[in-house]
Amino acid sequence: MDKLSLINKFESTYGKSSDEALRFFFAPGRVNLIGDHIDYNGGTVLPVAISLGITAVVRKRADSKVRLSSTDLATQVIIDMDKAMEYDERAGWGNYPMGVINFLKATNIELVGVDILYHSTLPIGAGLSSSACIEVLTGYLMMTIANIEVDRLALALLCQEVENKFIGVQCGIMDQFAVAMGKQGAAMYLDCNNLACEYVPFNTGEYKLLIMNTNTPRELADSEYNTRKEECLKALEIINKTRPITHLCEASFDEINRLIADPTIKSRAKHVVWENQFVMEAKEELEDGDLKAFGDCMDASHLSLAHDYEVSSDELDLLVDTIRAVDQCLGARMTGAGFGGCAIALVHKDILKEVKEYVKGRYEHATNIEPSFYECEVVDGVKELFFEK
Ligand code: GLA
Repeated sequence: MDKLSLINKFESTYGKSSDEALRFFFAPGRVNLIGDHIDYNGGTVLPVAISLGITAVVRKRADSKVRLSSTDLATQVIIDMDKAMEYDERAGWGNYPMGVINFLKATNIELVGVDILYHSTLPIGAGLSSSACIEVLTGYLMMTIANIEVDRLALALLCQEVENKFIGVQCGIMDQFAVAMGKQGAAMYLDCNNLACEYVPFNTGEYKLLIMNTNTPRELADSEYNTRKEECLKALEIINKTRPITHLCEASFDEINRLIADPTIKSRAKHVVWENQFVMEAKEELEDGDLKAFGDCMDASHLSLAHDYEVSSDELDLLVDTIRAVDQCLGARMTGAGFGGCAIALVHKDILKEVKEYVKGRYEHATNIEPSFYECEVVDGVKELFFEK
């Protein structure tokens, strides 16, 4: 949607005003190139912020209400910031912004009432961090409108807390960090243990990052995610009886093999330690410009996520296996939490069109579901948009 259509939609939802009263904000989604399910284990991850994201049109109100609506969802959510805010099933997606506003208020930040219209180009609930995107976007715009300087890292941490305590998903910091701290053209080599971040140029030369959406629901994602986290904590507990470590990523394969008897817990721990090594290797390959070796790391990571961590799905495996059979595809893997959602692949730019058709045909034939494909740029984190007059 262009600026004019957004203004029209805003005004038909909330009423007319002068154009000067409207402000625009954008937050990107994220793709994790490699390093899944290790952010909550003290590991290092490699996400990029992507040009698919959510735009918000915002206008100040004279009271302390916040109205939320979206260009493609029917529900409108109204929040009264003077009253207690509690998670409300009926509010659906509105719980994410509500949680952020609630937690910002709890830090004694003086917010002002606003009307917000969200417009998303990011597929919702597809593993590209739509929830972190709307959280960080809302926090950023609420603070900016109230003339409060935003500390991006603090905002990312607050949004993670919202997810953990308000929404109830025990996620790590990767998504909120990527949405808040992304840099154009760069991957974030983020140490989730101390939040040190090195920006690595994401130069893929003749190759393009292709995102493939299984378009399958991710119903199990939240509950299974929390189970995986518990399993990792169990593994950590077992190893801690022999050697005190803070995070599972610090464990050695020898310790895992020797100390953990339960085969499921052992497999989970193995994935965590492997995956952390793949990330370090992949980062070096990217810096050296060895995209083939980078692709090999992606492949290895997918296998570990599928077999040891068991967070892939038949549809994700099908997309990954199908595209891997194509010449000039250097690597492919699921990305994010899994259980459906999206996979990514590194594909030569000259064959993108044919590859999409080929994968679509195979995938549709096997599943009766049409997949979606996205190509996008690597962009900056959340920001206010300014347009030329
Ligand atoms: C979700 C979580 C992240 C991370 C990924 C898996 O996106 O929000 O914190 O754990 O899954 O890597």
